[in-house]
Amino acid sequence: MKNLLPGIFVVSVSISMAAASAVAGERPQKAAIASASPLATEAGMEILEAGGNAFDAAVAVSATLGVTEPYGSGIGGGGFWLLHRAHDGFKVMVDGREVAPAAATRDMYLDEDGEPVPRLSVDGPLAAGIPGAPAGWVHLATKYGRLPLSVSLAPAIRLARDGFPATHHMVRNLAYKKELMNRWPAAAEVFYRDGEPPREGELIVQPDLARTLTLLAEQGIDGFYRGDVARKLVEGTRAAGGIWTLDDLASYRVKEREPVVGHYRGTRIVSAPPPSSGGVLIVNALNILAGFELPAMKETTQKHLVIEAMRRAYRDRAEFLGDPDFVDVPMDRLLHPFYAAGQRAGIRMDKATPSDTLPGVVRQVMAGGTQTTHFSVLDREGNRVGGTMSINFWFGSGFMPPGTGVLLNNEMDDFSVKPGVPNGYELVGGDANEIAPGKRMLSSMTPTFLESEDGLAILGTPGGSRIISMVLLGSLARIHDGASATEMVALPRYHHQYLPDAVFFEEQALDGEVRGALESMGHVLRASGRNYGNLQAITWDYETGRIDAAADPRAEGLGLER
Ligand code: GLY
Repeated sequence: MKNLLPGIFVVSVSISMAAASAVAGERPQKAAIASASPLATEAGMEILEAGGNAFDAAVAVSATLGVTEPYGSGIGGGGFWLLHRAHDGFKVMVDGREVAPAAATRDMYLDEDGEPVPRLSVDGPLAAGIPGAPAGWVHLATKYGRLPLSVSLAPAIRLARDGFPATHHMVRNLAYKKELMNRWPAAAEVFYRDGEPPREGELIVQPDLARTLTLLAEQGIDGFYRGDVARKLVEGTRAAGGIWTLDDLASYRVKEREPVVGHYRGTRIVSAPPPSSGGVLIVNALNILAGFELPAMKETTQKHLVIEAMRRAYRDRAEFLGDPDFVDVPMDRLLHPFYAAGQRAGIRMDKATPSDTLPGVVRQVMAGGTQTTHFSVLDREGNRVGGTMSINFWFGSGFMPPGTGVLLNNEMDDFSVKPGVPNGYELVGGDANEIAPGKRMLSSMTPTFLESEDGLAILGTPGGSRIISMVLLGSLARIHDGASATEMVALPRYHHQYLPDAVFFEEQALDGEVRGALESMGHVLRASGRNYGNLQAITWDYETGRIDAAADPRAEGLGLER
């Protein structure tokens, strides 16, 4: 095994200074937006053309995604917006993650025998955290934007009020969630026709949502978190078995968090801090890989090492990560190259490490959401936003309080529903992420910037626990091979998350020879059976000036440069 540890600090220090000077002062020739919905990408462009900056455009894109892609995110959910302000280089993550209501308890989803009640944390109003998305939009607009919310929310309001044609994905997803969504009349009335999904191209009109968005535009935070909308949200959830109160809504606050920063082979990685696990895991995995001369290695060895780095990074997730306002997350340790060196020392070049032989085995409690959405924005001043938004599983909880148009998330399932279960080593997993009133549930959402002397990338994706490995693979392709946004989004994917101890892969990600070689090293391979993820990326190469905005070819999104 190569041990390149002594090089790590040299590489890190020189790179961080170079990257900082390359980015400062640069202005792109074009603005760029990539999102999972063409209408949302166009909405962002409309706002840039109306004189808005990237932060105004981010409001427009995220609010519009909530209208046109209601299975992934929305006003009833939350998200993270990673910001870079060009004129002073300031970076921050705006944390609009949902929080547990005040009446939430650690064991609220367990039966009298202490076992999880099936689907209680997933379906209906008890599954919903207090939304953070609307507060996030207000925060972005008032603190960083240039335009009033009445302008930046206008495209979303228009599309909710006048309707938009149901896409192939929309119809397919509505068919998939038909049983859940038809349990409660308000959502069923909006999205179904006599209980059946609309045909492709049929208009989906959301008048209640248009009204709620208009109140938010007119009254700011009070338009959602107090007054008529708040009353309807609370009455609706409580009548259907939920536990929200007016005070839960009135006391919701956005948080500003310092991003996680790391360095790998000439690139500075800026990513999502806790309550996301994403940035910590990405930087830790790259720190592990920094000790290998990866680009010079044959494909099987590269993939073996990336899998081993994923295994080790994901191992720590359940043990250490949670809402930093409630638990002490040992950031310095997890992000330190010496910590990664210790993890790397256990990697064998010729053999997979069985997950249950890693020290301190914990029961892994993963965020399982397969939906969520991501968008990337770069304006002509060089301001940028990577935004990842979620209502968790497809259409969240499926519950819409009557008269609001607000489809509620089921983000409560991202908590450890049953923490503290001892494993064979008497260690417990998930305590850091146990449920508590007012606490944010751990997330995998990973909006990320990659900055080097040569250029810039903004990337992120939905995909639950696989978000982090997708962003890692995209980052490696960019850093090792200079991949453009178009190449990053199309990249075949593979994933390991410590437990289950298996490599999940898209068919094209591992050819027959690599599969055989990995299996002979002891890796258990499981074809994912379908393609996954929906990565949205922007790249900007300083030498050529080329800007590329690209949407994942696996889905319906759109990247535009203008
Ligand atoms: N709900 C998906 C995540 O936050 O990771």
